[in-house]
Amino acid sequence: MKKTYIADLPKVIGEVVTLNGWVYNKRSSGKIWFLILRDGTGYTQCVVVKDMVPDDVFNLEADLTHESSLSVTGLVKEEPRAIEGYELEIKHIEVHQLADEYPISKKEHGTAFLMDNRHLWLRSRKQHAILKIRHEIIRACRDFFDNNGFVLVDTPIFTANVCEGTTTLFETEYFGRTAYLTQSGQLYNEAAAMAVGKTYCFGPTFRAEKSKTRRHLTEFWMIEPEIAYCNLNENMEWAENLVTYMINRVLEKCKEHLDILERDTSKLENITTPFPRISYTEAVKILHKQGEKFKWGEDFGGSHETVISDQFENPVIVHRFPSSIKPFYMKRDPKDENVVLGMDVLAPEGYGEIIGGSEREDDKNILIKRIEEEKLPMDAFNWYVDLRRYGSVPHSGFGLGIERCVSWLCGRTHIRETIPFPRTIYRLEP
Ligand code: 4AD
Ligand code: MG
Repeated sequence: MKKTYIADLPKVIGEVVTLNGWVYNKRSSGKIWFLILRDGTGYTQCVVVKDMVPDDVFNLEADLTHESSLSVTGLVKEEPRAIEGYELEIKHIEVHQLADEYPISKKEHGTAFLMDNRHLWLRSRKQHAILKIRHEIIRACRDFFDNNGFVLVDTPIFTANVCEGTTTLFETEYFGRTAYLTQSGQLYNEAAAMAVGKTYCFGPTFRAEKSKTRRHLTEFWMIEPEIAYCNLNENMEWAENLVTYMINRVLEKCKEHLDILERDTSKLENITTPFPRISYTEAVKILHKQGEKFKWGEDFGGSHETVISDQFENPVIVHRFPSSIKPFYMKRDPKDENVVLGMDVLAPEGYGEIIGGSEREDDKNILIKRIEEEKLPMDAFNWYVDLRRYGSVPHSGFGLGIERCVSWLCGRTHIRETIPFPRTIYRLEP
């Protein structure tokens, strides 16, 4: 029998096909019963009529439990009253397994319960929609870089280098030495950019975030471009072009899934380039004007980011942060030593920082001084300083947090729903 997916039903109207899936729902009305089957590509109604199937097939209605696995064979018919406009007139049902009583029901469950059952929760409509949108976001980011001449160069997970501060390092024993799980592929990206010009890496990154917030995971995915001969302004252009490309792709391809999530897309549809650009100092003025107590030199917390981004409909780029709160590799502004040529992109609607990046320090002596000031082990950074010994050039890059973007585009309130199996301070299972 012709094996088909629910998403492909429109192509096989009038044919007898087999669908493989799971029981989503069923209801009976005497001599006829209905089964809603899901197969990962969609949901469809199957109709079982007493006189058209053997008795053992008709009698299955009594036994089939939610999430039982089945193969159903039947005739594909157009049916305007059915959810997707099609239905399957059943000829045969093969049961693979009758599911035990399923822990997740239609009633409301608490978050802790759902997270404990994350391996099952992924099957539910909204979580499935988020998985699909996440996939499209990742595809869009990769396509953006691939279409713009970037070369994917993979960076290691085990590293001897600190990139984003020593307080969030995960350490692991490495044949008698200490290795860290990577916080960012950036330092390796800088080496790759000197080899291929424009590069990107994409992978999981790790931070021992001790704070419990709705924006932080201990394991998250980041896509990071790095570009030789690129200054801060050009870096900001790459960032805004990537973000708009990603939004347009999701609006174009994921309408059905955004609808399932009840996402109001009007705010996303109105986003245009260029994004507003303000300096950190201007951002602090906004905070003061909005009545926030905030001292120049402090780092923004999530609530500060929300106050700043609420002033704009587009994402806003904040640049030139105080040198004291930013990592060793960021280039100081030649016009003002107190600030670095760094930038963050803040998403609207309270989603906060989705991108962090900078122009990199390209002077060997200044870089060495910065590494020493941060008390980082010079031995581990010799190779990185080499990049300033052998043909150093102005260069820039950034990192976009995939989960922050999924959260924003899907309109979720918490980052834990944006990654299949979230890792946070309290969660290692499932
Ligand atoms: O601003 P961050 O720390 O920048 C870097 O790691 C640079 N080395 C990237 C680069 O220039 N190549 O992190 C970049 C982005 C943030 O803007 C945020 O979207 C995301 O990564 N991010 C997190 N997402 C989830 N959980 C966390 N704990 C995150 N920390 C950062
Ligand atoms: Mg940052």
